[in-house]
Amino acid sequence: MKPQAFLAPQDMSLAETRDLLAVARNLQKNPLRRDLAGKTIGMIFFNPSLRTRTSFDVAMNHLGGHAVILNVGGEGTWTLEYREDIIMDGDKSEHIKEAAQVLSRYVDAIAIRAFSAGTSWEEDRREQIHRAFAAYATVPVINMESQLHHPCQSLADIKTIEDRIGDPAGQPLLVTWGWHPNPLAMAVPNSIVMEAAKFGMEVRLAHPPGWELDSAVIETAGTLAEGAGGSLRIYNNFEEALPGARAVYAKSWGSITHYGDPQQQRAAAAPYRDKWRVTLEHMERTDNAFFLHCLPIRRGIEADAAVLDAPCSAVYDEAENRLHVQKAVLLRMLA
Ligand code: CP
Repeated sequence: MKPQAFLAPQDMSLAETRDLLAVARNLQKNPLRRDLAGKTIGMIFFNPSLRTRTSFDVAMNHLGGHAVILNVGGEGTWTLEYREDIIMDGDKSEHIKEAAQVLSRYVDAIAIRAFSAGTSWEEDRREQIHRAFAAYATVPVINMESQLHHPCQSLADIKTIEDRIGDPAGQPLLVTWGWHPNPLAMAVPNSIVMEAAKFGMEVRLAHPPGWELDSAVIETAGTLAEGAGGSLRIYNNFEEALPGARAVYAKSWGSITHYGDPQQQRAAAAPYRDKWRVTLEHMERTDNAFFLHCLPIRRGIEADAAVLDAPCSAVYDEAENRLHVQKAVLLRMLA
């Protein structure tokens, strides 16, 4: 039987996610266990990380296991090829077909972060590095952020929402784009919209015209929301979505329209600088909402420093929750 892969929020049903959050809350109270003694996770990074790297490493440690961290390229591990049936006369030294099967002989799970943007969204949305590892590994595969999803982040997000306001069903959550000097990955907004829809939240997604999320993600999220008694509505002005919001999730992401052309993205986004930045005055127009961001965040860019430092900010709880939910994911997939 093919081992499990956790690549997207929809790989876990609502009931499974609720069970997992219950385990995460127990682990928050009783952090140290030995369930994963003798087990190892191989963590492969094609992109930098502070939270993901540290929280997974600490999570394995708390559960009695061990993490091996591999940075792809440079002084780390060999550069990796994902394309099938290719003569490897380019700059890649090893194929994922070999890497995944060899690592599977050493470790009990493989976790991958690879979200670098190429030139084509149609190509990148296929998450080919993650899919190649999932195809060839003979151990469970965990997504630590791909081009399309960041499911461990959205688990931490939904736990933070439950911790603050109880049952998320029917509660209005505003997920708003923010201006940023660089086009960023879409994984975080995709996953939180999907997760919140799964929990039946009233999801308000706000972005300027041209910053639409992937249409298949929106379609799936809409179906999930409808099935759970929630809703998904899109706004082109985030200020219209503030009244009644119980949580405000700010995050910048790149435009699919100008995908692969950072200069064009910057030019198109320029008129939105300062207009699409969350301030305390915006937070005051909500229903006593708290503020979420996956971090890292540039202060004064996606949100004012005053928002991050205010009592309404939940960003440090949100980051802490990465540790608790990932321990629950590791127990589920490895124990
Ligand atoms: N939120 C998040 O994934 O943080 P890092 O990029 O630092 O891992």
